[in-house]
Amino acid sequence: MLPSELVKYKNLSRKIIALTAWDSISGSLIENANADIALIGDSLAMVALGYKSTLPVTLENMINHTQAVCRGFQKKIEDQPMVICDLPFLSYQCGVDKAVESAGTIIKETSTKGVKVEGAEPETQAVISRLIRMGIPVMGHIGLTPQSFLNQGLKKQGNNLSSQEKIKKESLLLEKIGCFSIVLEHIPDLLAKEITESVSIPTIGIGAGIFCDGQVRVTADLLGLNDRQPPFCDPIFKGKEILSQKLKEWVSNEKMK
Ligand code: KIV
Repeated sequence: MLPSELVKYKNLSRKIIALTAWDSISGSLIENANADIALIGDSLAMVALGYKSTLPVTLENMINHTQAVCRGFQKKIEDQPMVICDLPFLSYQCGVDKAVESAGTIIKETSTKGVKVEGAEPETQAVISRLIRMGIPVMGHIGLTPQSFLNQGLKKQGNNLSSQEKIKKESLLLEKIGCFSIVLEHIPDLLAKEITESVSIPTIGIGAGIFCDGQVRVTADLLGLNDRQPPFCDPIFKGKEILSQKLKEWVSNEKMK
């Protein structure tokens, strides 16, 4: 399936499910879970590489981890999740040529079908337009954009009228310039609902309520593998606690043998 075909799910009111993956094991898990999209998010900086934010992750890291995720897939190609990869910090902020080179390298070296780009400032709009014209599908990402945390913090966005107007305007712009879908992160549910109803492309929410056309989660948060959970992701499993306990038991038993 091509990214542009995801719109059929919006039109059928069938929710689109995206989960992040960062290595072959997580890739295999989310393929088995029948996720529609495997997002190699730059959150892998924290989940897999131990950084405190997404800023340090490099283009090379993103490519290596995307390749690893794809090596974890075992189903027929048409049954595998669609792979979307984040453009990391500084791979597109320095101009359109650099952005085309970064996104093009991801596309050439992995099975990625599209890239995700944070923000919708005029410079970012120019980048997104150029990528799309060069044949690279783009998923937008507005609301809380973690690559801007030094300006924005990690707080909920769209808490006042002017911020809501800005986010609405950005969603319409991203639709107009040709994004195939938009991630809405940590914004009020009703704002996400209004945006979802006003754009023809699918919205994929995280911390944005139930009215989006789909949901995306950082799989490590969902599985409770991290020490710190974002306020908008209740874990479905106490992964770290349970796995740590099991390993501890095994180590202690082995020591007694
Ligand atoms: O990097 C990431 O995992 C993301 C999701 C939170 C949408 O961008």
